[in-house]
Amino acid sequence: MTPRIYAPSQKALHWAVAILIFVLVPIALAMANLPDGPLKNALYEWHKSFGLTVLALALARLLVRAARGAPPLVEGLPAWQRQAAHASHIALYVLIVVVPLLGWAGTSACCAPVMLYFTLPLTLPVSGGMPVGEAILKVHQVAAFTLVGLVGLHAGAALHHHLVRRDGTLRRMLPEQVKA
Ligand code: HEM
Ligand code: HEM
Repeated sequence: MTPRIYAPSQKALHWAVAILIFVLVPIALAMANLPDGPLKNALYEWHKSFGLTVLALALARLLVRAARGAPPLVEGLPAWQRQAAHASHIALYVLIVVVPLLGWAGTSACCAPVMLYFTLPLTLPVSGGMPVGEAILKVHQVAAFTLVGLVGLHAGAALHHHLVRRDGTLRRMLPEQVKA
């Protein structure tokens, strides 16, 4: 049966993934532009660990989504907006899995070991060394910037619903405590 509302777990996972992405993208821009040194190395480690955490949370999100579904879009939207909403949600789900997987695979090829939070080694068995690693990381970068662009459109659409259309779209993704 189609649910009427997002489950608390769906809201928590949505915002946890969003916050991690808002933190790890600026970290990526900083680490790519800093001169070599301990700060750059630390930022790489945080970027990779936050990225792997996004991957785990994204898989959990997909499981909850498959088990529970999602509430129907608000009434009264033109067909093109309904299609755009569905397509962008699917693309966001795909990208929050594919982007960290590419980062993980590329780093495993070029720069093993991949450590989770400086402790747990989690290197994937990807051979080919630096050339393969660099090629995969290039795709990672392009896919990541595509994700950033799509998140911008998605957040803009959510704010448009809230401020211009004044419907319940944004509120239904907010925790009950925030809405009260
Ligand atoms: C949702 C998750 C992720 C996002 C949104 C993301 C985003 C980005 C972005 C935007 C860049 C480009 C920085 C620039 O060149 O200006 C980047 C680079 C990089 N990412 Fe990620 N990343 C994610 C996950 C991961 C993971 C899980 C790993 C590895 C375990 C990883 C490893 C790297 C590495 C090594 C680079 C640098 C590539 C280079 O030096 O050219 N990323 N990431
Ligand atoms: C990295 C950041 C984000 C990602 C990856 C993301 C991803 C998603 C996905 C995949 C859905 C569809 C959920 C489903 O139907 O199962 C969704 C829904 C939603 N998101 Fe985001 N989101 C992000 C950031 C944001 C931000 C910043 C806002 C608000 C400004 C926002 C507001 C919403 C709202 C209101 C919904 C519900 C839409 C509806 O059900 O009609 N999201 N998000």
